[in-house]
Amino acid sequence: MDLLRPLPPSVLVVDDEPASVALLRITLAMDYTVHTASGGDEALALLARHPDTAVAIIDQRMPGMSGTELIQRTAASHPHLIRIILTGYTDVDALIAAINTGSVYRYLTKPWNKDELMGVVRQASELHALTTQNLRLREELAAANAKLRVENAALRRAVKGKYRFDELIGTSPALRKMLALLERVVTTDSTVLITGETGTGKELVARAIHYNGPRADRPFVSENCGAIAPDLLTSELFGHKRGAFTGALEDRKGLFEVANGGTLFLDEIGDCPPELQTRLLRVLDQGEIRRVGDNRPIPVDVRIIAATHHDLERDVENGRFRRDLYYRLAVFSVTTPPLRERKEDVPLLVDHMLSRLNEARGHRVLGLTPEALAVLVTHDFPGNVRELENEIERAYALADPDGYVTPDMLSPKFAGRDLGLGNAAADGSALRTAVEAFEAQLVREALTRHDGNQTRAAAELGISRRTFIDKLQKYGIR
Ligand SMILES: Nc1ncnc2c1ncn2[C@@H]1O[C@H](COP(=O)(O)OP(=O)(O)OP(=O)(O)O)[C@@H](O)[C@H]1O
Ligand SMILES: [Mg+2]
Repeated sequence: MDLLRPLPPSVLVVDDEPASVALLRITLAMDYTVHTASGGDEALALLARHPDTAVAIIDQRMPGMSGTELIQRTAASHPHLIRIILTGYTDVDALIAAINTGSVYRYLTKPWNKDELMGVVRQASELHALTTQNLRLREELAAANAKLRVENAALRRAVKGKYRFDELIGTSPALRKMLALLERVVTTDSTVLITGETGTGKELVARAIHYNGPRADRPFVSENCGAIAPDLLTSELFGHKRGAFTGALEDRKGLFEVANGGTLFLDEIGDCPPELQTRLLRVLDQGEIRRVGDNRPIPVDVRIIAATHHDLERDVENGRFRRDLYYRLAVFSVTTPPLRERKEDVPLLVDHMLSRLNEARGHRVLGLTPEALAVLVTHDFPGNVRELENEIERAYALADPDGYVTPDMLSPKFAGRDLGLGNAAADGSALRTAVEAFEAQLVREALTRHDGNQTRAAAELGISRRTFIDKLQKYGIR
C-alpha cells in the first residue's frame, strides 16, 4: 500500500521577471515543493491543478493581472491559501487595500532578504497546516460523533433487550436449527463466521450473538470491508501514526482499539482485500495490532464476528481468500437460511413487521388478506427478509390505517399472481384456511413434479417424509 512520507508543503511563486522567479525557486527548493508562474492566468491554472498549495508568493507589478487582482480572484476558490505579496515601496495604496480586506498574510519588499523571506514563508506554511488540520480534525470529530451515535443507539437497544433472540422471528425447522447453534455459540467467546444470502439477517445474527454473550456490556463495532478503498479500510481498522501517509495529521486509533473488550463485526469479509487478509490473520494469531506507519505492537482483546454472502469455501479454492484466515474465522460457522427455505415463517414475519409499523406510525393495519399472504408465500424472495420488509412497507403505505392489505397493494411484480382463493373473510380462521389451501397446493405440485415419489417430493419441500405423508393425509391427497 501507499505509505508515502508527508510531502513538503508546496509554494507557488508568481512573478513576471524570470530572474526573480529563478532566485525564489532556488531559495525555497530545499524546504518546499515549488511551482512557478509568470503571470496571473498561469497561476490560476496551477492552483486548479494543485488545490492544496499552502503558500503563494505573488509579485504585485505584473503586466495583465496585477498581484492584488490575482489575490482577489483566488479568494473564493482557495480560501485556505496563505498569500504573501512582493512589492516595491511605491505600491503602498494597493497593498494597504489588500491587507485591509484580509486577503494578504504579509508583504515583502523587493529586493527581499533571504532570512526574512524564509521566516515569513515558514510561518505562512505553518498557519496553512494548522488551518487544514483544524478542518480535518473537525471532520474527524463529526465522523467520530456519527459513529458514537450509532454505538449509543446500539447500546440503548441492547439495554432494552431488543437484540435478544426474540428479534429473530420464525419457527421453521431451518430457523430453529440456526437458533440452536446460536444458543451454543453465545456462551463461548469464539470467532464466528456467518454466511448467507443477502437480506437473510446476518447482521441481526451478529448483534444477537454479541448482545447475548459475555461481552454484551462492551462495544459492538461494525465495519463493512467491501465499502471503502483498501488503504482507508486498513487505517480505519488498525489506526495510523501521524505522518504515516499524506493526510495522516494525527495519531489515530483504529476500530480494533475502539472495540477492545468487545466485538468487531467484519461485514462482507469476502470482499476483504488480500493485504488486509494478511493483517487480519496476524491479529487473530497474535492478539495484537500495529497502527499503520508504526511498529509498536498494541495488545487487543476483540471477538471477531465476520459475515459474507460469498461462498467463501469456493473463494478459498479459487485463491481469492486465504485458506488459513478462512479456518481462523470459521471456528464456528453459522448459515442464515434463505427465506425460500423457510416460507412457513412468512406469515410470522409479516405480523412482526406490521406490528412494528403500526407502533411506529400509530395506525392499526390489521393484516394481509389470505389472498395477499398467499401471493407472498409463493414468491421466492431472492432479496430474502429485506425484500419482504420492503414489500410490506410499500403495501402498508397503501393500506387503510385500520384495514387489510389486499393483493392489489403489492408491487407490480406480483401482478397476475392472485391464486384464486376466493374472497374469504379476513379473520383468523379464514387466514388459516387460505394458508392450508396453499400448503395443499404446494404438496400436490411437488408430488406431481416427482411422479408420485414421496421421498423426493418431501426433500424438495425441506420436510421429512413422515411429515409429508401426514400432510397428504390431512389434505386428502392421493
Ligand atoms: N429472522 C429474522 N427476523 C426478523 N427480521 C429479520 C430476520 N432476518 C432478517 N431480518 C430483517 O431483514 C433485514 C435484513 O437483515 P440483515 O441486514 O441482517 O441482512 P444481511 O444478511 O446482513 O444482508 P446483506 O448481506 O445484504 O448485508 C433487516 O431489517 C433485519 O431486521
Ligand atoms: Mg449485512
